[in-house]
Amino acid sequence: MSNYHVPVMLKECLEGLHVRPGAVFVDCTMGGGGHFLEIAKQIEPDGVAIGVDRDADAIAEVTAKSEGFSSRVIIERTPFSGFPEVLKKHKISGIDGVLMDLGVSSHQFDEGARGFSYRADSHLDMRMDTRNNLTAEIIINEYSEESITEILRDYGEVQNPRRMAKLLVESRNSRSIRTTGELVTLLNEEYGFLKNGVLSKVFQGFRIAVNGELDELKSALESSVEWMNPGGRLVIMSYHSLEDRIVKQFIRDKTVDCICPPHFPQCRCDVKPTLKLITRKPVEAGADEVVRNVRARSAKLRIAERL
Ligand SMILES: C[S@@+](CC[C@H](N)C(=O)[O-])C[C@H]1O[C@@H](n2cnc3c(N)ncnc32)[C@H](O)[C@@H]1O
Repeated sequence: MSNYHVPVMLKECLEGLHVRPGAVFVDCTMGGGGHFLEIAKQIEPDGVAIGVDRDADAIAEVTAKSEGFSSRVIIERTPFSGFPEVLKKHKISGIDGVLMDLGVSSHQFDEGARGFSYRADSHLDMRMDTRNNLTAEIIINEYSEESITEILRDYGEVQNPRRMAKLLVESRNSRSIRTTGELVTLLNEEYGFLKNGVLSKVFQGFRIAVNGELDELKSALESSVEWMNPGGRLVIMSYHSLEDRIVKQFIRDKTVDCICPPHFPQCRCDVKPTLKLITRKPVEAGADEVVRNVRARSAKLRIAERL
């Protein structure tokens, strides 16, 4: 396996999806293809594997590795909220499962120049899709203090986000903040040496804002339910509580069979559940996997089935 990315909970995801010959699956987050290529293999000879990623490196990586399958392999560079367009383009009317392995790949972190990591000094970029214009540099240097406060609070869950936003705005008024190194130095000078956990939250906040990650997730979850055949599986792996909360709430909303106020003697709402919960609690990686792959430590896997 290449060192692009080591797939997390590979066996659990494939079992959760019910991967089988002839079935049709969408991998929304193809990355290095760790899950995708295994799906493509296990649906042979006549299944369809649709792999989506908005990062050009992921597309190049998996395209190079995906020669020689007898199943149909479709690879498209698009944000995963756009996967229904891919299905329409390829005249696919229903799917048997959707996989989302959220966040960034190890490759994206390790490529210092992409700006995702506070450990490397580079341009404050953080775009998964380099065709988009919005970068972390633009947010940090051009957004209002109020908007930066919201990003740090809502996407980074940073304590006292107002103080940090004020610091950034005051600092940029004398000199623009252009690199990850400048950002880290500024924060360290203000707060004393920050723990890595705090820095990763700050970076997480800006990254989520640059890539619109939470809106992407909400949109793709809705589309998954719309496009899935009965019995189809939704398999989502998240790495922080913001994403996991959205997934948990989404599944809960789609599994309820009544939203009438409790004092109604009879149900009058006509709400029908569209999902069945498969994992009451999120599945976590075993200790041996965490030893082999530290990324697996924070992964939470939730599975639901289309009714
Ligand atoms: C954790 S990695 C997936 C790794 C992959 N499962 C593997 O085993 O190699 C997440 C990937 O999803 C992509 N990604 C994240 N959000 C996306 C979105 N909204 N649309 C398309 N791709 C997205 C990232 O570019 C990254 O390549």
